[in-house]
Amino acid sequence: MNIVVVGSQWGDEGKGKLIDILSEHSDITVRYQGGNNAGHTVVVGKEEYVFHLLPSAILHKGKVCVIGNGVVIDPKALLKEINDLSRRGIKVGAARLKISGHAHVVMPYHRILDGLRESKRKNKIGTTGRGIGPCYADKVSRCGIRMVDLLNPRVLQSKLEDNLREKNEIFQKVFNVKGFALKSIYGEYLAYGKELAPYVCDTALYLNREIDHKKSVLFEGAQGTFLDIDFGTYPFVTSSNSIVGGLCTGSGVAPTRVDRTIACVKAYTTRVGEGPFPTEFSSSLKDEIRTKGNEFGSTTGRPRRCGWFDSVLVRYSVVINNVDELAIMKLDVLGDLNKIRICTGYKYKGKIYKEFPMDFEVLSNVQPIYEELRGWRSDVSAARSYAQLPANARKYIERLEKLLKVGVKYISIGTKRSEIIIR
Ligand code: IMO
Ligand code: MG
Repeated sequence: MNIVVVGSQWGDEGKGKLIDILSEHSDITVRYQGGNNAGHTVVVGKEEYVFHLLPSAILHKGKVCVIGNGVVIDPKALLKEINDLSRRGIKVGAARLKISGHAHVVMPYHRILDGLRESKRKNKIGTTGRGIGPCYADKVSRCGIRMVDLLNPRVLQSKLEDNLREKNEIFQKVFNVKGFALKSIYGEYLAYGKELAPYVCDTALYLNREIDHKKSVLFEGAQGTFLDIDFGTYPFVTSSNSIVGGLCTGSGVAPTRVDRTIACVKAYTTRVGEGPFPTEFSSSLKDEIRTKGNEFGSTTGRPRRCGWFDSVLVRYSVVINNVDELAIMKLDVLGDLNKIRICTGYKYKGKIYKEFPMDFEVLSNVQPIYEELRGWRSDVSAARSYAQLPANARKYIERLEKLLKVGVKYISIGTKRSEIIIR
């Protein structure tokens, strides 16, 4: 069975943990969009691993991981991840990691441009500063450098020349900063190419062949539906398609080959970076939940903004991704609350919104309409079956199912691998 896991809010839903659990039963795990803006955390025993580019499944021996063509790869960051893992005793060989030659490379000028463009914006996006936006922009502008180009000195040289001719002029004339010298980038990136060459192949052909041979594939989405370049809270989004559709263009696997879509959803809502967030806490709850849920960005360390569960938002994700089952993560974090709220609609200028509005001004000013449920006031981390959860926790989950019109299959009640209930 081929499964895709997507985020249904603004990222950080706990995809890493779910992927870690599901990938044990899949032969191959694929990342298909985003780059090292992602931060997927997996806790095994006392060890914590944070993945930015490698699929979280790399921890399972004998499983193959693929970085698809839709991912933007910072080779320096990827090599660091591979080497750090190797230092911790996990070997990543060419048999276990396949990188698409079609994937675009994040270059040093992308990282610099990311910061410079942010500095010029009145409405800052709050990007991770990893050069993601400028890299995808070059891909679409048809001047990007791909992984396969790092393996061919002539192609790399000529593409770099073209890029630096344009970029250095922009750096100097628009931003008044120094440009880049071809020689140093060329040497550095050619060396990355040499190191990564054993992993580079046509991953689309590889994946389709393996699926022909009845191998099971797990597709690991990064970010979340509301960071999607088309359907997210534009322009406060990332530069790739983080909805389910991104897997087709980002891996070369057709939609008809995917059997099941699981959406990861946090039991409340968080967001890193700027942009509208209707159910954001205004009270002291913000600090309480942030501390209890350890809500700090795993890529940038920034404190995450926290708020109540927004069923209008998640219902939109359920529709767009045609979600088959939900995985509710971090339910344990709500365990101290007397009352728990769920947003069921928005109000703006006397009008009620039951669907996620498109207009930026509306979205930025809506008042959430809340429904209040009683909390369960207990530690749920010991529960191993749905029936062992407190009645009020079950009521919360069942209310969400009703509002979202989809069933909850997985309930995460702690960071450990074992702390998950499968219904
Ligand atoms: P995972 O996969 C949460 C956010 C950034 C910023 C916006 C654009 O861990 O869920 P970018 O650097 O992508 O141009 O920044 O997107 N962002 C994420 N927020 N989790 C992520 O990934 C994110 N990746 C990007 O904070 O608001
Ligand atoms: Mg993250």
